[in-house]
Parts: sequence; C-alpha cells; structure tokens
Amino acid sequence: MNAPSPDRRRFLTAGAAVLGAAASAQLWLPSPARAAATPLPDGVFALGVASGDPLPDGIVLWTRLAPDPLNGGGMPEEVFPVEWELAEDERFRRTVRRGTAEARPELGHSVHVDVRGLRPDRPYWYRFRADGRLSPTGRTRTAPHAHQRGGALRVALASCQNWQHGYFTPYADMLAQDPDFVLFVGDYIYESAPSATAVRRHEGKGEPYTLEQYRNRYAQYRTDPDLAAMHANAPWVVTFDDHEVDNDWAGEVPQDPDKQSHDAFVARLAAAFQAYYEHMPVRASAVPTGPHIQMYRRLEFGRLARLNVLDTRQFRTDQATTQAGAESPSMTMLGAEQKQWLRDGLRDSPARWNLIASQIMMAETDLLPGDGKLWYYDAWDGYQVERNSLLREFADVRNPVVLSGDRHLTMVSDLKEDFADPDSDVVGAEFVGTSVSSNGDQDEAAFHAQWDPLKADNPHWKVIDCHRGYHLFDIRRDGIDAQVRVVDTVVGPQATASTLARLRVESDEPGVQVV
Ligand SMILES: [Fe+2]
Repeated sequence: MNAPSPDRRRFLTAGAAVLGAAASAQLWLPSPARAAATPLPDGVFALGVASGDPLPDGIVLWTRLAPDPLNGGGMPEEVFPVEWELAEDERFRRTVRRGTAEARPELGHSVHVDVRGLRPDRPYWYRFRADGRLSPTGRTRTAPHAHQRGGALRVALASCQNWQHGYFTPYADMLAQDPDFVLFVGDYIYESAPSATAVRRHEGKGEPYTLEQYRNRYAQYRTDPDLAAMHANAPWVVTFDDHEVDNDWAGEVPQDPDKQSHDAFVARLAAAFQAYYEHMPVRASAVPTGPHIQMYRRLEFGRLARLNVLDTRQFRTDQATTQAGAESPSMTMLGAEQKQWLRDGLRDSPARWNLIASQIMMAETDLLPGDGKLWYYDAWDGYQVERNSLLREFADVRNPVVLSGDRHLTMVSDLKEDFADPDSDVVGAEFVGTSVSSNGDQDEAAFHAQWDPLKADNPHWKVIDCHRGYHLFDIRRDGIDAQVRVVDTVVGPQATASTLARLRVESDEPGVQVV
C-alpha cells in the first residue's frame, strides 16, 4: 500500500466527520428490497459499522441491528432486509457495489457482507440502510495486488481492552495515524463481573455465560466512541484470546474446572464464539459450529507481507503447572493441524515479511533472577518444545516477525533460536503490543522496580514499558519502522498520545534495534 499521503489524511478527516451525522438519503437510489413486516425502532445502527479481512479484491462489511444494545438488542424476532452500498467516494457519487443482506434473529441481527470484485489497494466507503434508516458511513481499504512488491503498509497492533480498567483512548490517536488495517490479537472483551470500583462498570450482574449475556457485553464495548470510530475508519483483522470466553481457558478446559462442568463450559464456548462472530467483521468461514470456530487464517499484502493469524486457545493442551511440565513434549499450543499449516505457510511464503499474529508472547520471560528459570505457563514459555521447534524453523524463514499481546506490557524482543543458549542466533523479532486499557494507568516506578532487575536474565528484551497504547508499524521492503504509541491516561475519555520508542527491523537482518 502507498505511504500515507496528505490526500488520505483529508479523506480520513472528512470520513470521520460524516460519522453519526446521517448522510443524505436522497443520494441513495431506490432499491427493490422488500419492506420489513414490522417497522424498525429508532437507533437500529447504535453499534455502528465495521469492516475487516481485506483481500486485494474484497472486504467484509459489518453491522448489527440493535436499537437496545445492552438488553439483547431490542429487535423483533424476524428477518429484516438490510441494504448496503459501497462507493469509491465518501459522498457515494461513484457507487460500485450494492445489494441486500438479511439480518437474522438467530445471528443477533448481525450483517456480514463479503464484497468482491473490488480494486486493490484503495479506499472505499460503505453504509447500510434498513427500513429507510441510514447507518453511519464507514471507510475501508482493500489489500494490495497479489504481485505488488513495493509500497508501504501501515499496521496498528492492539489487544486487551478491559472496559472496567479504562477508556479506550489509544484509538483516538490510532485513528489520527490512519493505519491501513488494525490487527487485534485478543481480549476484545473481558468476561469479568461488574465491579463497583471500576473506572467504568461492566453491564449485567455477573460473568456472561449465555449468548444473550455475551451479546450484551460486546454491545457495551462497541459503545466506546473511540473504538467505534476506529472500526468505522479502517478494516480490522481480529483473533481472540482467553477473555472472549473465560480467563486462561485451554481447549475445552475452563479456568476453574471444579466450578464449571465440561458440558456447561462447552455450552459457554458455543455462546461466546457465536457472539464473537456476530460482532466481528470476519468471513463466513468463521461462522461457529457449536463450540468450534475457525479463526486461524492467512492474509496476503502483495509480495510485501504475509500475515499468519494464529489461534492459540482452541487447540492447546491445558497449561503446565511446573517448569518440568512446561518442557514436556506432550504440550501443544497450536495442535498438529494448525502447526503444520503454519510451517507450510512460512516455508513456502513468497513474502518479504512473514508476520505471525500470536495472542500470547513467544519470547522467553525468565522471572527468576540469577540461575535457573521461571516461566509464565500460559504463554509460549509454557509450551517449550513446540515453541523451540518453531524458533529453529524461523532460521529458514524470511523475516519472521511475531506480533502478540496478552501481557499488558510493551515488550519488544529479539527471538533467539534457543533461549537456553545465550550464544544462539537471533532468528526474528517480537512486539508485544501492551494493552489498550487493561491494567489501567500503571505506576512506572513500581513497574521498573519489579521488572528492571530481570533485564540481566532476559538480555533479548529491547524495550519494556507499562504505558497503555498500541504499536504502529510502517512496513516497506527494506525494513519495518515501528513506534510504541502510548497515552498518558485511560481513566478519562481524553488523553495525550506520544511515541515512547522507535524501533527498526532491517530486512534480512534478524532482530530488532532501538532507533
Ligand atoms: Fe488481556
């Protein structure tokens, strides 16, 4: 994709201004869509619009009819036709695709339109209409042509947005930075019960277990104005981690198997995955089948970058509880099928950059000062044998870069072929993209008092930091320029953003350098 230009910034400003203000309906030509049997209530587009999973010729458009979003949606139990249109300009003078989709009650009246036949590497604007009511206008972007080698791709890496820990202020800055797409690597919602001492309180009365409860939780998150605006202004590529279902779940094992029976947890997975699909701009391949959802997938951005999006929850063995357990060859993070899929995709990749979106951190975190190791068992450290075999293969992969989350910290690291051997080769780079709001505003002095003594045990760390924010990457053939973008606060709806660190990954030189 082309480097952000003044033109694109102008589009962004104008596109953002249209949000919320109903675009003029008379520009929309009459369509043959049949009328709904029941008139729709006001505010059916309260959850806004979104787009995702860009292809060179396609994009997924999303909305959900929900006039009473925190109470099950508030829609009659009927199928409603929803017209959509997509144009080359924000005023919809050059509409290139239009159609009618169905908002079905069994899918929470969500709408997913997989538009094809588009031109590569360019912006599009889209909107929906139901029963004469217009949605806000969204802006999106297609991926570059499959054969495009050059150009630049601007990617924002985000994760971990706990409503109760703060406002999603990093998205206001992300919007201004105008990424080509947002990569979200998990913890889109948190399943925790409402807390009276929270910055903002979760809806409901406890943790969600049923489909309606998960729907209400997603709907509440989408009412954050910065999150909604970011969805409306760029395509997202999403995957989930644990909190979309239950803290630290693994396969069909919940956090607390003594409190949730297997049957109850499988029902909970099915409800959580369905609500996830209903609220995310993903393709129909991600329509869940009971307690299963297909989320690992690849996206291509010309010859510049291949993005492997992992699922590190559904196929993993339950977490180890000891150092020896973490080193057992029986532990798998990806499952055999996904692991083979990833290896094939890395080995045969035509791309200059091979990005791996992993929910959880791949580089080692040794928590024990001095001799010996102590690992986090929920991250790749808890799955040593599989992680180490992947790192060995990275030596033969062109420019592997892992983009992860989960830790609620910025950790930028070299990836070593063997973390047990300090002299082993650097084979890649990893960015752990802090959190949008989870952990709230942290005490920097306390953070450094805790973590700085561990730096000697983790010499692969290049930057560690506890601010809330996200990472921004400008990917070109010769290198990736990365910025750690942070905000000064998430306790209120306004924040000031800044660049905490700049880093560079040179093409064909494994590892990451602080600039
Ligand atoms: Fe998290």
